[in-house]
Amino acid sequence: MSSKSTSAEYFSGSDTLEHKALRILRENEWGDYTLPTKGLYPYQWNWDSMFVALGFAEFDVDRAWTEVESLFEGQWANGMAAHIVFRRDDPSYFPGPSVWKSNHSVPTSGCSQPPVAATIVRDLYEKDPTEGRERLIEIFPKLMSWHRWFHTMRVVSGGAAIAVTHPWESGRDNSPDWDEALANVDPTGVTPYERKDLGHVDPTMRPTDAQYDRYLKLVEFGRDCGWDHTHITREGPFAVADPGITFILMRADRDLRYLAEVLQKHAAVREIDGWLTQARAAARYLWSPELGAYAARDLRTGEFASGVSSAAFLSYYAGIASSRRDAQLQRTLDRILEAAPYGIPSFDPAHEKFDPKRYWRGPSWAIINFLVARGLAEFGFAGKAARIRQSTRAMIEKSGFYEYFDPFTGEGYGGSHFTWTAAIWLAWASPETDAKD
Ligand code: GLC
Repeated sequence: MSSKSTSAEYFSGSDTLEHKALRILRENEWGDYTLPTKGLYPYQWNWDSMFVALGFAEFDVDRAWTEVESLFEGQWANGMAAHIVFRRDDPSYFPGPSVWKSNHSVPTSGCSQPPVAATIVRDLYEKDPTEGRERLIEIFPKLMSWHRWFHTMRVVSGGAAIAVTHPWESGRDNSPDWDEALANVDPTGVTPYERKDLGHVDPTMRPTDAQYDRYLKLVEFGRDCGWDHTHITREGPFAVADPGITFILMRADRDLRYLAEVLQKHAAVREIDGWLTQARAAARYLWSPELGAYAARDLRTGEFASGVSSAAFLSYYAGIASSRRDAQLQRTLDRILEAAPYGIPSFDPAHEKFDPKRYWRGPSWAIINFLVARGLAEFGFAGKAARIRQSTRAMIEKSGFYEYFDPFTGEGYGGSHFTWTAAIWLAWASPETDAKD
């Protein structure tokens, strides 16, 4: 799949998984961006679009760049690239633009999402440095200001790990990682609302009403303070250091530094080096010897989350090596992979909070599998990376392009015809990608 002309072949009626994946990308395309799936998610989502760009890059690199560029229409003056870019109001989704009331001309949500963008931009640039250079020049300052936003507005003083101030910012909405901190959010007085997600997906696969009340309460807090992000991080009802965002940003900083060198932006290289000096301290802060893993940590109480989520294993992707911690982390990973044939489960199957169906509380997600395996492969854990890739392939072969999968049975859950699952298939999980190894 290397040239644009092959795209036509995918619509020629064949029903291989390659063709189906490509059709999902094309059918969910909405001009310059792509919907995660129709109905459930009718707008542009931040990290979804970046994975989608990787899928497009398999057959149309120009369209891949466009996907990334369109996301930055939702970048605020303070640098934040928003987690949802609304552009319009769609009655099938709640909470929409009239609830968030963002500080931006193109209506967006008021928080961000895991910054995979710089890493993907590097991937796109490396596919064709000559063609990509102009586009890189355009997007580079936008990536810089977004990373700066994280490093200034999502760190509490003296800290190094990156905080999320809303579970939605983590991209792992109802992970048990947030349970304790969320329990401290008082939902009293939340404006009455109607959930729209339950009209699309079985409630047993979605967050609970008690969680939703708190999600909305946090939106109202941000909106009512005019989206003052310094205030939200320092004083808001919820601030949790997230291994997911911390490690994804660390990796993205390294890739952004590489791109700064390509463009000979020396001041930017120095600024990024400053961010990277925090990396080891951030990893240390997130390490829980009791869990034998990196874990989310409530910044208001200092308490660790009660169990191990799949984000723990993103330390390799981040480029963090620690021989003492890694020995333990590998044992934890082995135990979890042994327990679930369609791994990586998003939460430890041995933990009482594990639920194989409920969204980020157990199911296996193709995008996380891809990121973790990429890091493991880079650190020489080729066997484990291959195993995760095979299990991702197997769950898609078994069930199709679902949003997430049962880690024991491989059954698909949540939205079907899901764009990022199709994109990961095209870029990494399909047998056709073996040729790249
Ligand atoms: C859910 C996921 C989030 C994703 C979004 C759109 O909110 O938790 O990670 O970006 O759906 O697919």
